Amino acid sequence: MKQIDRLKALGLFDSRVPRYTSYPTAPLFSAEIGAAEQARALQQLDPDVPVSVYLHIPFCERLCWFCACRTQGTQTLSPVDSYLDTLAKEIRQVGTLLPKGVRMGRMHWGGGTPTILTPAMIGRLAQAVKSVFAQTEDWEFSVEIDPTLVDRDKIAALAAEGMNRASIGIQDFDPLVQQAIGRMQSFEVTRSCVDDLRAAGIRSLNADLVYGLPHQSEARMADTVDKVLSLDPDRMALFGYAHVPWVAKRQKLIKEDSLPDDQARFQLAGLAAARFAAAGYEAIGIDHFAKPTDRLAQAARHGQLRRNFQGYTDDACPTLIGFGASSISRFDGGYLQNAAATPAYIERVEAGQLAASRGYLMTPEDRLRGRAIEMLMCDFRLDRAELARGHGTAAAALDDILQALAVRFGDLLRFTDEALEILPEGRPLTRIIASAFDAHTPEGVRYSQAS
Ligand SMILES: C[S@@+](CC[C@H](N)C(=O)[O-])C[C@H]1O[C@@H](n2cnc3c(N)ncnc32)[C@H](O)[C@@H]1O
Ligand code: SF4
Repeated sequence: MKQIDRLKALGLFDSRVPRYTSYPTAPLFSAEIGAAEQARALQQLDPDVPVSVYLHIPFCERLCWFCACRTQGTQTLSPVDSYLDTLAKEIRQVGTLLPKGVRMGRMHWGGGTPTILTPAMIGRLAQAVKSVFAQTEDWEFSVEIDPTLVDRDKIAALAAEGMNRASIGIQDFDPLVQQAIGRMQSFEVTRSCVDDLRAAGIRSLNADLVYGLPHQSEARMADTVDKVLSLDPDRMALFGYAHVPWVAKRQKLIKEDSLPDDQARFQLAGLAAARFAAAGYEAIGIDHFAKPTDRLAQAARHGQLRRNFQGYTDDACPTLIGFGASSISRFDGGYLQNAAATPAYIERVEAGQLAASRGYLMTPEDRLRGRAIEMLMCDFRLDRAELARGHGTAAAALDDILQALAVRFGDLLRFTDEALEILPEGRPLTRIIASAFDAHTPEGVRYSQAS
């Protein structure tokens, strides 16, 4: 049987499983867990262990049809301005609960489009965070940048606040594809944004691409990939287009008959990956690529890659504090998510309440399963010795799953006494294999396809 037919028979195109940016996944979060647990988690933080900080800016000037991110369109800055006031208030509220001296090792601004902020707003927001969190010496500050909504002044303001990593949205450079996803963005504008970022001293640059978009063909994909490579990014994310119009209503504007079929999608991903490899990039996890010198590639080589809400990271901070509408925080005990809709978030914070409105408290079994899933998603390898070290005899509870996987996936997996490894031919099935360790299947949740 051809590899593609074998993968297909094992569910590559039909399975709908999570991307496991967390385990348990967000649909499992409960409204019974919220502000009280958030207050407790913040008060119990160890002041000697740095935290990561995430800020969500849920505004865009344009609303791209393909986009499944939590954001809203706005043509004026007045809602953004008042949102920033609320954000500053939330940061102060959280600050009153933190033990003295908690420092941040990382800060990430995502969205939406953080570069909708003016230089003055950028300074205001950065100062609000810095007034609560001192920075570690190796502090990293990364920002998601829309090349069509940024200029030198904004980049200078971000750099002045310490931005040292940037992630630019590209998706695809072909005009026909861009038209079909409602996102026009020329190569020239993108290149000049990259030049401006580098001139401002930004040394670490990520580019986001998406395969599976309308009208993508092998020739168009090859052209986009070559253009992206000419920008010499340090990292790239190649996301499979998640077509979920039942969640992201704007995707209804995308004509389904213009989408590549399952096989074509698979080939597009393979084509891009092969070109990245030929250009010297290392494949990281299921959808990232990085230069061998990049910290993400180094982390992957040393088994230190982690999975979080932004995808893959080399961030070792155990705690992530999310600010803004819909942001998710991760504490030792579990997850907490702020009110998702911007008006609900504003209402809570302005009423003096903490913003978390849903969450999940992890059991020891969740931790074990979550770590098993993370290992597979990051390393394609489940290290039984590490699980036993971290979870003791409980790790043996996964043996039945391992045996079932051996039967189902056969020689796509390698078993030894120490580990289960997904061999390269089986890696397109990683999400499906990882889902065998997921004990929670929320009812009524429809995920995007696994390939
Ligand atoms: C917050 S957005 C990007 C930042 C910025 N607003 C921009 O457009 O350049 C983060 C990334 O999520 C990815 N993304 C959004 N919707 C997606 C979807 N439906 N399927 C796959 N990836 C998606 C895109 O690659 C996008 O660049
Ligand atoms: S891709 Fe970026 S600019 Fe487009 S809607 Fe999504 S967040 Fe906004």
